[in-house]
Amino acid sequence: MTIEYVEKLYNRYSTFYDLLFGKVFHNGREIASELLDLFPGAQLLEVGIGTGLSLPLLPRNIQVTAIDLSLKMLNHARKRIGALNSHHVQLFKMDATQLEFADNSFDRVLATYFISTVPDPIKVILEMKRVCRSGGYLVFLNHFHYEVPVIGSLEKHLSPLFYRIGFRTDLNLQELMEQTGLRIETLEKIDFLGHWKAVRCVSPD
Ligand SMILES: C[S@@+](CC[C@H](N)C(=O)[O-])C[C@H]1O[C@@H](n2cnc3c(N)ncnc32)[C@H](O)[C@@H]1O
Repeated sequence: MTIEYVEKLYNRYSTFYDLLFGKVFHNGREIASELLDLFPGAQLLEVGIGTGLSLPLLPRNIQVTAIDLSLKMLNHARKRIGALNSHHVQLFKMDATQLEFADNSFDRVLATYFISTVPDPIKVILEMKRVCRSGGYLVFLNHFHYEVPVIGSLEKHLSPLFYRIGFRTDLNLQELMEQTGLRIETLEKIDFLGHWKAVRCVSPD
C-alpha cells in the first residue's frame, strides 16, 4: 500500500467520514484527549487530524498544529475550525513520515485512529518522537492486534483486506514500542474486549 493510495482513499472518505467514524469512535477521542494532560500554552501536534473530530475536545488556551495527507479531509477540518472559531489551530498538508518540524518542537503529540492507516507506522512513530520534546507525551489511540488465538489470527489474516479499505488490523503494540524505543506509561482500554486502546508514552531523553 502506498502513501498515494491512502491519500486518494481518504479524499474519497472525506464527505461521509464524520457520519461513519464520528459518534461511534467519540469515546476513544475523549479518553485520548484526557491522556494528553494539557496545560495552558502547551504546543500540541496532531498527526492525521482528518476532519478535526478531536478539536472540540481540546482547550483553547493551547497552540494546536495539525497535519494530514488528504486535502479533502483537511478542508472539512478547516470548516470545523471556522465553526468553532478556533484561532489557536493551524493546519498543514503534510506526510507524517516526513514531518517538516524541528526536533523537540512540541510538548504533546496526538495520533487518533491514525497509525493503522499508514504504510510505515514505525517511521511515523519515530518522527512523532523526534518532534516531541523529552518528557513530553505521545498519545496513541488505535486498534491493536488482539492476542487471543482465534480472533488474533483472524485479524492477522484479514489485515491486507482491511488495509485496502483504509486501516490494518495487525499492529502489535508491544512490537511497536520495542521497535521505536518507547515505553507505555498509561494504557486505557476503550472497548470491552480491549482491541481498542489509548496509550500514553513519555518521550525519552
Ligand atoms: C482514520 S483517519 C483518522 C482521523 C482522525 N484522527 C480521527 O480521529 O477521526 C486517518 C487519517 O490519517 C491521514 N493519513 C494517513 N496517512 C497519513 C500520512 N502518512 N501523513 C499524514 N496523514 C495521513 C488520512 O488522510 C486520514 O485523514
